[in-house]
Amino acid sequence: MPPQDERAALVKGWNRAAEGWARQQLAFDSITAPVTSRLVELAQIAPGSRVLELASGLGDTGLVAAAKVGPNGSVILSDAAPKMLERLRERTKGADNIEVRELFMEGLRFDTASVDRVLCRWGYMLLLDPASALQETRRVLAPGGRVAFAAWTGHDDNPWTGATLSALRDRGLAADPTRPGPHMFAWADPARIVEALENTGFFDPAVEQVDMAFTYGSFDDWWDARLDLSPDFAKQIASISPEERDELTEELEREVRPWQQADGSLRFPGRTHVATADV
Ligand SMILES: C[S@@+](CC[C@H](N)C(=O)[O-])C[C@H]1O[C@@H](n2cnc3c(N)ncnc32)[C@H](O)[C@@H]1O
Repeated sequence: MPPQDERAALVKGWNRAAEGWARQQLAFDSITAPVTSRLVELAQIAPGSRVLELASGLGDTGLVAAAKVGPNGSVILSDAAPKMLERLRERTKGADNIEVRELFMEGLRFDTASVDRVLCRWGYMLLLDPASALQETRRVLAPGGRVAFAAWTGHDDNPWTGATLSALRDRGLAADPTRPGPHMFAWADPARIVEALENTGFFDPAVEQVDMAFTYGSFDDWWDARLDLSPDFAKQIASISPEERDELTEELEREVRPWQQADGSLRFPGRTHVATADV
C-alpha cells in the first residue's frame, strides 16, 4: 500500500470532485456508453456471476453489470472516496444484488478467489501503486476469472481534455502528460498495459481501442464539464487571477476551434484502451 498521507491526498481530490461528477453523471454516462458496453461485453458477465467493480465512481459500469448478473448474481461497487460512495449509495438504493463498499484498489479486503469478474473503468493508471492493485485483482479472482478495464490512450487522441494542456502548461498549471504516472494518460502505451498484466501473472492479455464523441452545447458547457470532472483542475483555475483566467479562456476558445461546429457546439473525439486478461 502506498503511504497513507499520499493516498489521503488523492482521495481528498476525488471527494472534492464528487459533486461535479454528480452534475456531469448523465452526460458522461451517455458519452462513455460505448466503453461501458464493450467492457461489460468483454468481461463475459453471465447470470449468477459475482462481479467486483473497482474505482466505481458513480457506478456507470457496475450498474450495467448488475442488470446482467440478475437476481442470483452479485455486484460489489467500490471506491476509495467516501463522497463518491455517498452518491453511489443514493443511486443504488433498493437494488438487491448490489453492495457498495469503501475500498482501496491496492488492498482488497476480500477472500482469495471470491469473485468471477473484476471491472474497472479508468482506475489503475491513476494509482500510486498499480502493481499492487493488479496483484490484488488477480488474488481475488476465482479460477476462470477475468479482469476487464479501461485506461485512456494518449492526450492527442483526447482533445476534450488534451486541448487545454498546452495553454495550462504554459502557465505552470499542468504537467507533462507523457511523464510517469500516476495520471490519466500514464497507461497510454498499450505495451505498458500488457507488460503490467503479464508481470502480475495474468494470462492472455488483450488490449483494444474504443472511440467515443464528447459533445457539448457550447464552449461554456465544455468548460464547466472540465472543471466538474477533474479533481485538481478547478483548484488550479481558482489559483490564478481573474485577468489570467480571462486570457486563458480566450486562448482556449482559439484552441478548441477545430472541434467547433457551425451551431457553436463542440464535438471532440475521445479514445480509450479496453483491456482484458484471465487468471
Ligand atoms: C476517473 S474516476 C473513474 C470513475 C468511474 N470508474 C467511471 O469510469 O466513471 C476515478 C475513480 O477512482 C477512485 N479512486 C482513486 N484512487 C483510488 C484507489 N486507490 N482505490 C480505489 N478507488 C480510487 C476515485 O475516487 C474516482 O471515483
